[in-house]
Amino acid sequence: MGWYADNIFPHLMEWVMGKEEFQRQRREALAGASGAVLEIGLGTGLNLPHYPARVTWLTAVDPRPQLPALIEARSVGLSFPVEILRLDAERLPFEDARFDCVVSTWTLCTIPNVLAALAEVRRVLKPGGSFLFLEHGRSEDPKIARWQDWLTPVQKLVACGCHLNRRMDELIRAAGFSIDLLERYQMEGVPKPGGAMYRGRAVPTTTAMRTPIKAASGL
Ligand SMILES: C[S@@+](CC[C@H](N)C(=O)[O-])C[C@H]1O[C@@H](n2cnc3c(N)ncnc32)[C@H](O)[C@@H]1O
Repeated sequence: MGWYADNIFPHLMEWVMGKEEFQRQRREALAGASGAVLEIGLGTGLNLPHYPARVTWLTAVDPRPQLPALIEARSVGLSFPVEILRLDAERLPFEDARFDCVVSTWTLCTIPNVLAALAEVRRVLKPGGSFLFLEHGRSEDPKIARWQDWLTPVQKLVACGCHLNRRMDELIRAAGFSIDLLERYQMEGVPKPGGAMYRGRAVPTTTAMRTPIKAASGL
């Protein structure tokens, strides 16, 4: 897995996730980002060109920043400084309420302890700050969801830990967020098990009330 993860998967990811439809969705999802932003799971930096001018600072974490030369090239000429840290989102070294906005695109599927990462996202967000997410996850269609359950063990191998069947909205709420915008749709040009999308915005709830997670959250 190490050699594949270092040498093949980043190129595969760049090729698939750099396609026009993915770029369009990134642009739309990031349009509301502003101020000091944290991105979890930077990948190959495909989001970098899509941040709007209202962003003043970007910190990005990823345990394996992928294709560093490409990330560096994408960081040049941006209107805000970019700080990249080789870290897991489950343990963020930032003080509470440091960021105005946290962004996650196609990353909550892969983080091993996704609830711990979401709790960290909540902790480092300012009260009233935005968590912007663009994620694939468990389908609303039971037949597709069944396929997602069957295919997830294989997907985890070929896509370096990616789960097809996580219920993103439930996980986000369970970590102490309220979701004020949520779009569910099937992404065009992506096979159904991998294209059940969750796009939206969540804000930290004022009290850390946890919504219980149902059994099939895909953890
Ligand atoms: C499918 S890629 C998506 C990359 C990028 N967000 C994008 O939209 O192109 C998932 C990313 O999550 C990262 N990742 C895996 N485990 C993580 C963790 N514990 N914390 C933060 N990122 C993680 C991977 O290294 C990978 O770059």
